[in-house]
Amino acid sequence: MSQTHFGYQSVDEGEKAQRVKGVFDSVASKYDVMNDLMSMGMHRAWKAYTVAVANLREGDKVLDIAGGTGDLAKAFARRVGPSGQVVHTDINEAMLRTGRDRMLDDGLALPTTICDAEQLPFRSGSFDLVSVAFGLRNMTHKEQALAEMARVLREGGRLLVLEFSKVAAPLQKPYDWYSFKVLPRLGQWVAGDADSYRYLAESIRMHPDQATLKAMMKTAGFGHVDVHNLTGGVVALHVGIKC
Ligand SMILES: C[S@@+](CC[C@H](N)C(=O)[O-])C[C@H]1O[C@@H](n2cnc3c(N)ncnc32)[C@H](O)[C@@H]1O
Repeated sequence: MSQTHFGYQSVDEGEKAQRVKGVFDSVASKYDVMNDLMSMGMHRAWKAYTVAVANLREGDKVLDIAGGTGDLAKAFARRVGPSGQVVHTDINEAMLRTGRDRMLDDGLALPTTICDAEQLPFRSGSFDLVSVAFGLRNMTHKEQALAEMARVLREGGRLLVLEFSKVAAPLQKPYDWYSFKVLPRLGQWVAGDADSYRYLAESIRMHPDQATLKAMMKTAGFGHVDVHNLTGGVVALHVGIKC
């Protein structure tokens, strides 16, 4: 079996999905509070920016992949209105359940489906917009997942990939210190799990940088790709148009 990386470790491809599942099973119940703490609330601004760039219209059909606890799906649903549809999906049941329960508490019932981004159970050309926030990094076959995202979009539809990326050089040292010294301790303190947050820091370093991901999206069928660096490249929003 081929090898891939799980953070800095080299593992069998078949093992990676299980290890990623273990991470999100472990953190699901504390995921939202940890997101606020570790990003100092900035993930809310990154997601708000993504929603603004999505510029959805009433009636649009949207697929949120790796949707987890549902921040984007919820915001999108408000914009597409009752004539539109947002499908909230994730490979992990614990994350999806947490998100679905949160949305039901807010009076929102969305179609919710467990699915692997690498094998999407939707017809070709079904959606106006596909989003994946902080999910692509965890996928084993990223090229396959991006090709699937292109397949389920209509011609002219857009893919929004919000993901950690390569920070600007002056931020590198403090960012590394924060990632490897502070994050695992925060994870241990709040979620009782340092290893999952060590994986987070490592997986960010192993993820393709802005230019590489742009090239991968072009190969997958996105004829035009724009890159928006946020917070000095801590995060980047890649917007691909299927054309
Ligand atoms: C860091 S969370 C992001 C959740 C949410 N999108 C957000 O921005 O808060 C990453 C999510 O990716 C999901 N994931 C990992 N591999 C996946 C795959 N192959 N297909 C679909 N989802 C996957 C995980 O289960 C997890 O819920």
